[in-house]
Amino acid sequence: MLRARLHRSTPFRLALAFGLLFILGFLISGLITYQYLKRELMGSLDTSVTEMYAVTTSNYAPNDMEDLVAAIEAYGKHPTSDERVFSLVDPSGRRIAGNATVPLLPDGLASITAQEIGLPINTTFRVFSGSIGENHLTVGRSLSETDDFEDIALFSFAWVAVLTIAFAAVGGVLLAHRAQRRLDGVVETMVDISNGRMQARIPLSGRRDDIDLLSIQINDALERLSRLVESMRQVSADIAHDLKTPLNRLKMTIQDAMSRNEQGEPIEDLLADALGESDQINATFEALLRISQIEAGGRKARFRPVDLLDLMTEIVEVYADVAEDNGQSLTFAAPPAGTWLVSGDRELLTQLFVNLIENAINHCQPDTRINLSLTAAESILIATVRDTGPGIPEAERAKVFRRLYRLDKSRSTPGSGLGLSLVRAIADLHGADITLADNERGLMVSLSLARAKPVAQ
Ligand SMILES: Nc1ncnc2c1ncn2[C@@H]1O[C@H](COP(=O)(O)OP(=O)(O)OP(=O)(O)O)[C@@H](O)[C@H]1O
Ligand SMILES: [Mg+2]
Repeated sequence: MLRARLHRSTPFRLALAFGLLFILGFLISGLITYQYLKRELMGSLDTSVTEMYAVTTSNYAPNDMEDLVAAIEAYGKHPTSDERVFSLVDPSGRRIAGNATVPLLPDGLASITAQEIGLPINTTFRVFSGSIGENHLTVGRSLSETDDFEDIALFSFAWVAVLTIAFAAVGGVLLAHRAQRRLDGVVETMVDISNGRMQARIPLSGRRDDIDLLSIQINDALERLSRLVESMRQVSADIAHDLKTPLNRLKMTIQDAMSRNEQGEPIEDLLADALGESDQINATFEALLRISQIEAGGRKARFRPVDLLDLMTEIVEVYADVAEDNGQSLTFAAPPAGTWLVSGDRELLTQLFVNLIENAINHCQPDTRINLSLTAAESILIATVRDTGPGIPEAERAKVFRRLYRLDKSRSTPGSGLGLSLVRAIADLHGADITLADNERGLMVSLSLARAKPVAQ
């Protein structure tokens, strides 16, 4: 089980691959070093043998044979003579002096085994041969010193290799295990989340490494997700709660109608009430659906340049009469003509301003003044809708954007508390900021939208 898991674990595989690469690199570099060392040692041995020959011959002239023979005999008896070869032979290859009898070799460097020259040891010699008069002199040194060096190098290399491989393996497994434990933390958190424990978060190591950065991103996404789930839960509960009242009212109206019907009384008015109530419920559902559709963001594909000045002028023209009928005034402090473009959905932006104006008309008393304005600040267009009505208390300003939320004092007026939710959904779709503020007396709603560049004709 553990082996199977280790096998599939990415950190372990990485550690393994890294370990193998490391070993390969180590072997190759070891081999190169070994070859280099061997060549250097051979090179210096050749130099030393050549020098030995030069030193041996330099002091003796070809006719000074006796001194040379004596010197070679003396060299051959030296305690280190096992490691060295001195051989002076006559043209027929017979020994004249030395500790070995080397057969006639071509002049220069050569390698020869101890057996070939009749020495009872198991080694190879590097020799230099040359003629002295008609005789032949060979001097040489055994490879055993070089071999010893090579053995030491190989031995140390093997030990270093074994230790390094052991360290790489143990370190790799430990590191892989640690990384795996942290990845397991991610998996466990995701399992928790899918089991509904939305507050689960990936623990961070605090080292701000790649796993930490990834975990931070996932935790942020989980945070947003859990807030979304929570708000959906809240919305569903609110909707269920808020729809209970009109459904109960509908039920009571139908019950009234049934009992009146039993007594033979006319029930047309109650049926009309029931119809009105069900229309209202229907409208609420439609508005809820519309908000969800807008929030899904599909309409973004239909964004076109929209001239806000044009759009607001049109709406004010239509709604000025409605306000007037209600004893209120609706005006527009229009900016100078020009390009007041934003990228958006004209129908939805119209709906947004209509909802704000209808709110001012419905939630403010007669004689209220409602004023729209449009200004620009660098690349932002700011549209405002102000009224001189009762305003919204600061503590309620965030709540009025919630679905079906209405201030207590508005409960008697018609409406379902979805107007501002729709406004917020449309603003969000357009990437616009919407704020509610005091308008000295009354409410000021400001909408900031990014200005769009005019399209070339
Ligand atoms: N201009 C305003 N002045 C005072 N109160 C307001 C104003 N606009 C909104 N409100 C308050 O905010 C609440 C929520 O507004 P929203 O537009 O979401 O719902 P609604 O107007 O009650 O119903 P709907 O718009 O769905 O017909 C309103 O019920 C009202 O209490
Ligand atoms: Mg409204």
